[in-house]
Amino acid sequence: MTDELLEIKKKLSKILKKDRYEHTIGVMYTAASLAMCYGEDIQKALTAGLLHDCGKYCSAKDQIHLCEKKHIQLTESELAMPALIHAKLGAYLAEHEYGISDTDVLSAITWHTTGRPGMTMLEKIIYIADYIEPNRKLIPGLAEVRSIVFRDIDQAVCMSAGATTRYLENGGKAVDPMTVSTYNYYKKEK
Ligand SMILES: [Fe+2]
Ligand SMILES: [Fe+2]
Repeated sequence: MTDELLEIKKKLSKILKKDRYEHTIGVMYTAASLAMCYGEDIQKALTAGLLHDCGKYCSAKDQIHLCEKKHIQLTESELAMPALIHAKLGAYLAEHEYGISDTDVLSAITWHTTGRPGMTMLEKIIYIADYIEPNRKLIPGLAEVRSIVFRDIDQAVCMSAGATTRYLENGGKAVDPMTVSTYNYYKKEK
C-alpha cells in the first residue's frame, strides 16, 4: 500500500466508528479484488474503497450542516433521505481534506450509494463492493450477488439495486429516484 493510502487509513481509523472502519477495509479489499478481475486500476479501487464512507464520520445532522458550510448543493431527495448525503459529502472531503484529485475515484465515491445509469467500471466496482464486502450482514439476495459478481458485474449491479429498492419499500422507506433509474438501466442492459 502506498504511503499516501496508509496515511489516509490511519486517519480514518481514528475518526470512523469501529464497525464503519471494518466495513471500510472490507470494501477496500473487495474493490481491489474486483479490479483484478475486471482489469481496472487497483490503486484507484483501493483509494475509492478506502474513502467511500469518509463522509460518514459524523451524524446526518452534522453532515447537513457541513454541506451548508461548504456550499455543497443537496437535492430534495437527499434532504428527505439523509443516508444519501455522505456520498456527495465524501467526494468533497476526499478531494479537499484527503488530497484526492483523480476524478474517477471522486465520482466512484459520489455514486456509491445510489449507483447511476451507465456507470464506469470503477463506479460499478465501488457500488457493488459496498454491497458484498465480507462484513455485511446477510440480507436476502446477497449470496446470489456474491456468486455472480466475478462473472457478470452488470447483473450483480442490477440485482443489488433491485434488492435495495425492495428492502426500502418493504420497510416503508422512500427510495431515491436514482436507485430506481440504476435498476431500470441495468435491467434493460440484460
Ligand atoms: Fe456509504
Ligand atoms: Fe459503505
